[in-house]
Amino acid sequence: MPAVVIVGAQWGDEGKGKATDLLGSRVDYVVKFNGGNNAGHTVVIANPDGTAETYALHLLPSGILSPGCVPVIGNGVVVDLAVLFQEIDGLEARGIDTSRLVLSANAHLIADYNRTLDKVTERFLGSRKIGTTGRGIGPTYADKMNRLGIRVQDLFDEKILAQKVEGALELKNQILTKIYNRRAVAVDEIVEELLGYVDRVRPMVADTGLLLHEALGRGETVLLEAGQATMLDVDHGTYPFVTSSSATTGGACTGSGIAPTEITRVIGIVKAYATRVGEGPFPTELFGSTDPHGDGERLRANGGEFGTTTGRPRRCGWYDAPIARYAARINGVTDFVLTKLDVLTGWDRIPVCVAYDVDGERVDEMPMTQTGLHHAAPIYEYFEGWTEDISGAREFSDLPTAAQAYVRALEDMSGARISVIGVGPGRDQTVQLHDLL
Ligand code: GDP
Ligand code: IMO
Ligand code: MG
Repeated sequence: MPAVVIVGAQWGDEGKGKATDLLGSRVDYVVKFNGGNNAGHTVVIANPDGTAETYALHLLPSGILSPGCVPVIGNGVVVDLAVLFQEIDGLEARGIDTSRLVLSANAHLIADYNRTLDKVTERFLGSRKIGTTGRGIGPTYADKMNRLGIRVQDLFDEKILAQKVEGALELKNQILTKIYNRRAVAVDEIVEELLGYVDRVRPMVADTGLLLHEALGRGETVLLEAGQATMLDVDHGTYPFVTSSSATTGGACTGSGIAPTEITRVIGIVKAYATRVGEGPFPTELFGSTDPHGDGERLRANGGEFGTTTGRPRRCGWYDAPIARYAARINGVTDFVLTKLDVLTGWDRIPVCVAYDVDGERVDEMPMTQTGLHHAAPIYEYFEGWTEDISGAREFSDLPTAAQAYVRALEDMSGARISVIGVGPGRDQTVQLHDLL
């Protein structure tokens, strides 16, 4: 019966892919419910001979790597069909069976003109840019809300498809040619490209809302895996520096067709420090004069903080407890998975942001306005560091006392219990305190 949600509690790249993969062998379905190939989830799986396989997933749910479960791309996802088949072919070539994949008939398609518009809009914005991944995500969601979107099911009715593409291009071509000085796009060009995928798409398409509802009725377990994160959510994130989808627990319902009353558990993935890619406020960021010791660079190097999707260096900073509390509240987090604790090994003392100073006033929660968040200076508490290598820890008691105290302090400040601790990228490199299912 249970539907379990995994969400990012910060600005993405918390390790949602690894957490999903950890549960993959114990669930029946893994559903991606929002976003598209802006996501990048790296999953590392050990081979029996001690070597490791690394998979970078973008559009496919991380459950694709678990042979026993059915991976589902839900209605809330925006799908770039070229990327979908590249990713499928890439995995098949490495011996991963992708034949169980199911795709919602209601998911929206990323058309080529929206990839173009994403890039030219960013260029046009100049210093006000969002720093998007350039995959066409924002314009495709805008079309969905504007009722100009193309959906997977449109592929099966050539006449409707042509009508919809024509309707969208009427507006898009005006924008492309008159504002951005680009060439107009021909209706046939887009229709032909999309129709080229019909035969491969057809067998994987289903009414995924119904499929999942029936699965829950049979007592099967459905894991809903978010892309992006709370602070990138279009409603609850640092708007306008956000993605264009609902990356929080509410989005898991709208993006999959599962009712809120089915959800029994919400797992928030949170890094032991913080990172962000792209533009926008980030109170604990370490850069320039706030970073006299080069801690930001050290976190980036130790944590391998470079984007899985765009390769961009991630901005790095200290753990921000008000943001974790905010994520716990918005998502109804029941359990946190605290990832990358191993990356903090070697610091004498570790700062944690416990509240903000906003224009001279102490603020304990997320400031109400964007200006407030832009003005928020972190108020830090300092915790004792540790030097021991913790990557082999499997029990809480294997962690040095200082690392245990750091975890317990974060738990006290963050609004939900910490149930799993990540001490390395490998599937087995975890310390489990409570079962997640
Ligand atoms: P996602 O987008 O939330 O799935 O996260 P990403 O895959 O983009 O980024 C997380 C990175 O951290 C990946 O390279 C993971 O392999 C790695 N990772 C996950 N958990 C841990 C951990 O506990 N320790 C370390 N060192 N790496 C981790
Ligand atoms: P995962 O699932 C981190 C960021 C982009 C940009 C903003 C909008 O791997 O955690 P978009 O292309 O979505 O319109 O870009 O959102 N962004 C992410 N940052 N992790 C992600 O996904 C992201 N997906 C989008 O950098 O700031
Ligand atoms: Mg990522």
